[in-house]
Amino acid sequence: MCGIVGYIGKQEAQEILLEGLKKLEYRGYDSAGIAVLEQGELVVSKTVGKLANLEAVLEQNPIKGTIGIGHTRWATHGRPSDENSHPHQDCKGKLAVVHNGIIENYMQLKEWLQSEGHSFVSETDTEVIPHLLEHFYTGDLEETVQNVITKLEGSFAFVVIAKDAPQKLIAARKDSPLVVGLGEGEYFIASDIPAILKYTRKAYILNDGELAILTPEAVRVTDSIGKAIEKEVFEVNWDAVAAEKDGYEHFMLKEIYEQPRALRETMSARLSNDNKKVVLEEVKLTAADVAKIKKIYIVACGTAFHAGMVGKYVIEKIAKIPVEVDIASEFRYRDPLLDDEDLVIVVSQSGETADTLAALREAKNKGARVIAVTNVVGSSVAREADDVLYTWAGPEIAVASTKAYTTQLIGMYLIGIYLAQLKEVITEEKAQEIITAMRQLPSKAETVLGNIEKIKELIQPYSKVEDVFFLGRGIDYAVALEGSLKLKEISYIHAEAYAAGELKHGTLALIEEGILVVALATQMDIFDKMVSNIKEVKARDASVLGLTFRGNNELIKTVDEVIYIPKTHELLAPVLTVIPLQILSYYIAVARGCDVDKPRNLAKSVTVE
Ligand code: F6R
Repeated sequence: MCGIVGYIGKQEAQEILLEGLKKLEYRGYDSAGIAVLEQGELVVSKTVGKLANLEAVLEQNPIKGTIGIGHTRWATHGRPSDENSHPHQDCKGKLAVVHNGIIENYMQLKEWLQSEGHSFVSETDTEVIPHLLEHFYTGDLEETVQNVITKLEGSFAFVVIAKDAPQKLIAARKDSPLVVGLGEGEYFIASDIPAILKYTRKAYILNDGELAILTPEAVRVTDSIGKAIEKEVFEVNWDAVAAEKDGYEHFMLKEIYEQPRALRETMSARLSNDNKKVVLEEVKLTAADVAKIKKIYIVACGTAFHAGMVGKYVIEKIAKIPVEVDIASEFRYRDPLLDDEDLVIVVSQSGETADTLAALREAKNKGARVIAVTNVVGSSVAREADDVLYTWAGPEIAVASTKAYTTQLIGMYLIGIYLAQLKEVITEEKAQEIITAMRQLPSKAETVLGNIEKIKELIQPYSKVEDVFFLGRGIDYAVALEGSLKLKEISYIHAEAYAAGELKHGTLALIEEGILVVALATQMDIFDKMVSNIKEVKARDASVLGLTFRGNNELIKTVDEVIYIPKTHELLAPVLTVIPLQILSYYIAVARGCDVDKPRNLAKSVTVE
């Protein structure tokens, strides 16, 4: 996890580093720090807590200088504290390092370095890097970095600044992202593009095993033994404001509102004008490839996993191929029975989630073909998969995923129909029925959002509840899981999701007065069964908030309140039902005074396992 940034040029580095870190705070915000070369001396300032704390310190004691590095931390090894904050230094304070990733052999390295006389001040894995650099320093920093990398196991993206190499920043990566930004006479390095977007749109991505050597004149990229590598520069075409809050109180709310646009952009170019076909130019499966597929595995984490659960219902129903959905952290270690007759779909907003990436590699090693559904162009997952289906949600900054989830759902529908077409198990009429309904989703999502005040009012009495159960059957259950995750991660309320028929096998014992049950009931073939389950919780005095399609006049007879969503094809219901659940979580979290965009203990991009 963690966000890192580096600057070399003619401007004051402090300001640029802080600006960059602001854009990277989604990667972690347990502490922050910078190191800048001030009149030939390396000056470090770092402090526990959010970036605002560091800004306050630097306002009192600014560091002047035009070369520097910065870090925002998500704690892994060592609790959040001043000492564990980056940058970390060697014994003499002559060099400083910011790092994202985990050095897995740090204990052995630390013990050895200590036996060689190095003294450590933090509990972090990172601190071994500056000490190794100090220990093996030859007078040539680049050569020393090349050597030190060979001693590190695990994942890293790090940047080094050194008093003895004052016109240089050196960056290296393995399994953690780094992007180089090219300005006019100034250069940037960062974990992610938003950190540099204010200053330049010209960039390239550093690959695993590469080193970037930044000087005030140029950036040079080499392989791990110093051989020069030519990089292809690309122009970032995002709108810089897209990454800003745009007047909304929180990124999460802004991103909830962006869903109609994100849905439209993700689907429109992939649906034929006559609504009869899904056209996925980026996925190169042939009819013969699809005929060969025995099984599909959808592998992901968290919210993306919940999108995968919807994907299972959709793909099995439309394309008639068995689908297993796996949590990436489990999949990678369970020696899955995979071969070249299986298709693996990995779903990841960031494209950098360590477990998802490892699962992808495991699948490829076993010969399976991998399709990635991701939101970040050029991310590790995108680069390593055989085919990539990008979700065009735009940058998602809030830790709680919203627009990425609904666009991932679109990804599932697109893949489902695409496979069904290639397998010839869907009629043109059936495809047209679903695609026509898909086209209407953005405007129906707008309708749901138009009701936001009503939903807010409805949920107001529930802001103080301590236990919430989300119930659903079939595809509604998959959405219930997402609703429950959303609520607990941003409001810290205990929430659970249950397949409604399962409740009576134990959990019903927890239902009593004061508990809120959110019951999703959009699947008409099992509607009566759902109503029976709702009656079971009503009989135990829970308050029940129902969710169904407008026009359904039955549900209100059993529950306390109903949130209605516009009628759509039942398979597509998740795209609309999840929006009131996002709104519910958002306003309950706001009412409880929670830090909605940066919930405690979490970070946006989980690049550690
Ligand atoms: C929850 C949330 C997380 C992510 C998960 C996977 O709101 O955002 O559960 O879905 O960490 O992240 P990606 O999709 O980047 O692989």
